[in-house]
Amino acid sequence: IFPSRARIVEVGPRDGLQNEKQPIDIDTRVQLINKLADAGLSYIEVGSFVSPKWVPQMAGSDQVFAGIERKQGVHYIALTPNLRGYEQAVLARASEVAIFTTASEAFAQKNTNCSIAENLERFTPIIAQAKAQGMPVRGYISCIAGCPYEGDIPPEAVAQLAVKLIDMGCYEISLGDTIGSGTPEQISAILKVILQQVPADKLAVHFHDTNGRALENIRVALQSGITVIDSAIGGLGGCPYAEGASGNVATESVIGLLDELNIAHGINLPKLLQASAFITQALKS
Ligand code: HMG
Ligand code: MG
Repeated sequence: IFPSRARIVEVGPRDGLQNEKQPIDIDTRVQLINKLADAGLSYIEVGSFVSPKWVPQMAGSDQVFAGIERKQGVHYIALTPNLRGYEQAVLARASEVAIFTTASEAFAQKNTNCSIAENLERFTPIIAQAKAQGMPVRGYISCIAGCPYEGDIPPEAVAQLAVKLIDMGCYEISLGDTIGSGTPEQISAILKVILQQVPADKLAVHFHDTNGRALENIRVALQSGITVIDSAIGGLGGCPYAEGASGNVATESVIGLLDELNIAHGINLPKLLQASAFITQALKS
């Protein structure tokens, strides 16, 4: 059985554009976000406050936040690795923040230059301040179905980390198949383990479409009761620390799937396609 409603978290302006060879100018990033909000997306990851030496494409995220039109009811999210990033997100008036770790020690080192335990230590002061300020915190766990450096990741490790992040104060955990290697059978098995410890309404899925299985995997997630799906307009993206990882699953494809399954989503497809055409064109020029 499928749920009657699903919610998209649009990660294109962050996870998508962070992986483009050429940095995208601020105005294009702002226009893209405004078009996405206009198409009915209510959760949009605007940018990240990470080291510009590590991810130069996300430099200027403060200017992007300053430039967007804030539409009522839309959550404008900032990705933050540490307290310094969190403080910048607050200054930029982000409506929520996302913190990120992984179930793979090797990936934690490559992505954030520290261990998983150190990731969690960095989150402690973020979450303390966020609680005091009423700022919602979303948590990411990447490499749930395999790591580009370490190979197999035990689902039990993902489940334990998810429980830890929820206990720390994240309102939702986004489970990332960062390299898009998961098959529907694998994803189904992994979700089964996680769902024994974390309720479906606290989980989201974040699929990269490297092997073209993302839509099938989303179907599996929906069937297991998970109703929040991360996707990127135009299938933009990848991860600078996961070579060969292709883009996130395309938002327009997810909408196609939801329509096929009669699952309500609240997105205006013609406007979404216009946003997709806009960014695809901007990236070509
Ligand atoms: P570090 O080198 O270990 O830490 O970086 P540091 O504290 O020694 O700082 C190094 C430099 O970064 C210093 O500058 C700091 O000032 C600066 P320098 O002295 O060399 O000029 N710095 C910062 N600058 C701006 N904003 C900050 C900040 N913090 C330090 N907040 C750090 C640690 C985490 C900062 C670094 O490793 C980093 O930025 N990594 C990038 C991580 C990233 O953005 N990865 C991609 C997103 S994750 C992802 O894509 C997966 C996901 O989509 C889910 C999935 O697909 O599964 C979420
Ligand atoms: Mg990602």
